[in-house]
Parts: sequence; C-alpha cells; structure tokens
Amino acid sequence: MSAPSDSVFAHVVRAPEDPILGVTVAYNNDPSPVKLNLGVGAYRTEEGKPLVLDVVRRAEEMLVSDRSRVKEYLPITGLADFNKLSAKLIFGADSNAILENRVTTVQCLSGTGSLRVGAEFLAKHYSQHTIYIPVPTWGNHPKVFTLAGLSVKTYRYYNPETRGLDFQGLLDDLSDAPEGAIVLLHACAHNPTGVDPTAEQWGNIRQLMRSKKLLPFFDSAYQGFASGSLDTDAQAVRLFVADGGECLVAQSYAKNMGLYGERVGALSIVCTNGDVAARVESQLKLVIRPMYSSPPIHGASIVATILKDRQLFEEWTLELKAMADRIISMRQQLFEALQSKGTPGDWSHIIKQIGMFTFTGLNADQVAFMTREYHIYMTSDGRISMAGLSSQKVPHLVDAIHAAVTKSA
Ligand code: LMR
Repeated sequence: MSAPSDSVFAHVVRAPEDPILGVTVAYNNDPSPVKLNLGVGAYRTEEGKPLVLDVVRRAEEMLVSDRSRVKEYLPITGLADFNKLSAKLIFGADSNAILENRVTTVQCLSGTGSLRVGAEFLAKHYSQHTIYIPVPTWGNHPKVFTLAGLSVKTYRYYNPETRGLDFQGLLDDLSDAPEGAIVLLHACAHNPTGVDPTAEQWGNIRQLMRSKKLLPFFDSAYQGFASGSLDTDAQAVRLFVADGGECLVAQSYAKNMGLYGERVGALSIVCTNGDVAARVESQLKLVIRPMYSSPPIHGASIVATILKDRQLFEEWTLELKAMADRIISMRQQLFEALQSKGTPGDWSHIIKQIGMFTFTGLNADQVAFMTREYHIYMTSDGRISMAGLSSQKVPHLVDAIHAAVTKSA
C-alpha cells in the first residue's frame, strides 16, 4: 500500500473558495441562531425560506402527469419551443430580428453556461478577441471569458464617490477601445452595484458602440426582477436590437423564475440576416456537443410550459412582481432604519440602486467585522443581497452596519 503522500496528485494545492458561493459555505458552517446570509443572490421569503413559485409547481405537475412525455435526449441546441419563447421574451414578440428570422437561440446551462458558449463561439469565429467588462462586475465574468480564450479588458462603470454611474469614464474607455471589440453589458440590475444607466444614457452608449463597431454581449440575469416589469427590464437590449445591428444575449431563468438549481438559460445571437444566423447556429452546435452534448430537459420544459400558456404567463408575472416589490420594500426599510438610528453617512444609494443587490460602500474590514461579531454573511466588496433580507432581520443588520461604521470612524 502506498502512503497518501505518494498520490500522483500530491502536488495539488488547495484552491480558495469561490468569492460568492464560498460565502454560503461559511454561512452553513456557522452554528449561530442569528446568522444571516446576504451573500449569494438568491431570493428568500419574508420567513427567510427559499421560494418555489406556485406557477412553477403547477407547470411541474402538468409535466409529471403528462404520460406522453419521455426522457429522450434533447437536440444539441435544446428544446425548440423554449428557444423561440425565450427569444420573444427578451426581444419582444414584435421584434424585427425575430420576424426576419435572423436570431439564433440555443438553450444553455443558465446564465453562466450561455456566457461560456457565446464566448467560446466568439473566440473561434469572431475577428476580435478582446472583451471589455465593467469595473466592478460579477466575479465570474473574467474567469468565464478568459477560459473561453478571450482577452479581458475593463471599462470604468461605478464611481465610489457618488455611488452611481461613472458615465464619462464609461464613454471615454469605450471610445478608446479598438474597433470591433466585444463589450459586456449588464442588461439591467447591474451586479454587484445595482447601478444602471438611464434610458438616455443607454441611447448614448448604443450610439457610441455602433459608431465604433463594438459588439454588444448582454448578460440578462434579472429580467423582470429589477423593476417588476419584463418589458422595462428588456429595454436596453431592445434598443440595441431595434437598430438592426448584431449582438449576443445570455439569458438566465435562475432569479426570475426561481429555477436556480435547474440551470435554465439561453444564448441568442442576433445577426444581420437569416442565412448568417443559420450558419452561426451550426457552429454553436460544434461548441456545445463536446462540452456537454445537449442541455437538460426538465427546467426548460417548465419554462416553455409557463411561457406558452397565457394564464400561466400572467400568474408568473404577478409572482415575479411580488418578488421585485418585496426587494424594493426591503431597500426602503433598510434605508429608513439606518436614518432613524442616525448611522453616520449618506445611505440614499440603497433606495437609488436597483435589483437584487445593494453595493453598500462598506469595506472588506467592516464586512469581516459584521461577519465575526454579528454573523452576517456578505461578499467582501460590501455587496448585500436585498433578496436575502426580511423585515424581521432589518434591525439586526442595522445594528451591525452601525457598529461597523462607527467603530472605524
Ligand atoms: C450572485 O452574484 O450572487 C449570483 O449571480 C449567483 C452566482 O452564481 O454568483
């Protein structure tokens, strides 16, 4: 018997936990009864429980009781109905790109998988291999793009002084980008900052990008979750598609349908004509097949069932709006509680930012203090998931923020 140190893997060093998902690991290891997980962006009810939407339960019951359904492999590109309906959802049913048949949509493994397939395709078939991502951005973005073979550069996005958009910085950096470069844009509810451009600013960004032939790659992880309206949250994407130009869009149903672990998403590539779109799709199949052959059937069937039935769709929009409203009300409650406690600082960004996250402005030291002393878990950049908060827990969070801010003041 060889000793364990003789392992052919003995040289392998322990990797650090993921900066976002690792927060949940630390939270799970904490025995404290008052612990609170504001790390990962996952919706919780007022009682702090994960939520399965009623409409999802109903769709699942329909699927289970339909004996004609089988478990055969899906095609490489996934469930055809799901793909069509996903494109309609993001681009709008009256989108010219759809009517002219110049969009190809493939089912992928949630947002991450869609980004990865899109990036692998670009690395193989697009003339420019540089992708510009905002500072800051979702921690997984640079890893996904780098591993796919793209070279990652950044553009200014967030201004810590104003806790708002660094619009001039953004325009300057995109103006300096080489012609044809790829630009990653958060479709709405920017993660982690909760800061989105206004409609007018989106108009300017579009103009600049089109004039420099920059290729937009949208990450749409929160459609309907930011404002409560599916159409409002798709406006930036639709603005770019309406001008007839090309773009990529990665969609996720993790948050807006609560299908986190089902890994349901889609990648759409909008082309200038149907012939190109068909050829692009044929190449996407060559990207997907050696990666995971074909996507899973269950989650996409839930989504397709809901999207194609008028009544289920209506029900979904109501449940979605209720989730968005609860988050908006959490923002208000947290802001008011900090005000009434007299916690030093201007906290108005909490109600100005949008979507799942508040970028509090707390530093890594203050975050570590809140975790140590108050058992409150969040990413070290000071991002808190508003979806993990409840009215009941607001006072505990406010006490922690107050103590963190006054201790270092
Ligand atoms: C987050 O940012 O918390 C979510 O998008 C979940 C994840 O996979 O990181």
